Amino acid sequence: MMDFLKLCANRYSARSFDERRPLPDAVLAQILEAGRLAPTAMNIQPQRIFVVQSEEALAKLRSVKKCFGAPVVLVVCGDTEVACNRPKVDHCMAEQDCAIVTTHMMLAAESLDVGSCWICSFDVEALSNALELPANLTPYMLLALGYRSGTCEPGPRHADRHPMSHTVTVL
Ligand SMILES: Cc1cc2nc3c(=O)[nH]c(=O)nc-3n(C[C@H](O)[C@H](O)[C@H](O)COP(=O)(O)O)c2cc1C
Repeated sequence: MMDFLKLCANRYSARSFDERRPLPDAVLAQILEAGRLAPTAMNIQPQRIFVVQSEEALAKLRSVKKCFGAPVVLVVCGDTEVACNRPKVDHCMAEQDCAIVTTHMMLAAESLDVGSCWICSFDVEALSNALELPANLTPYMLLALGYRSGTCEPGPRHADRHPMSHTVTVL
């Protein structure tokens, strides 16, 4: 357990990548596998992940969101048609499902010494248009991935977490 907590504490949002060092396919495959193993509501697995890594696709993405020059960006989308239309689910779980899939991949990246940054501030419509995403898919978050540059360091508030008493109430 300590190893896992250490991994959680050591991970930080990487905002400067070594653009000349590509992510090997085998490393990317392990990160994607960690996402595939994530639990989802009713095991529907509505996530659809676009791996943006060709120069052409990166240029399209960067016209909407720069992503700190990461050599690979995962566009994590939810298929809202399959995620919403199931009995007993009264609201769409697609975003929650995508969040846990992305969390798995982010922590897997850290375990492989790959830097990552979760990005939500982008224009959903512009990004969907730029990548020509199907209408049933909503891009909820981006996961920028790559080896950190020599100058990459944690943001000033990285270690800033509320004490347990602020976030946890025992009843
Ligand atoms: C849901 C979510 C959305 C985020 N969106 C962005 C974003 O749009 N741009 C960005 O630079 N960082 C983004 N981040 C990273 C957070 O700013 C960062 O995790 C937080 O400040 C704590 O810093 P740390 O990750 O270095 O520990 C996001 C993180 C999460 C979990």
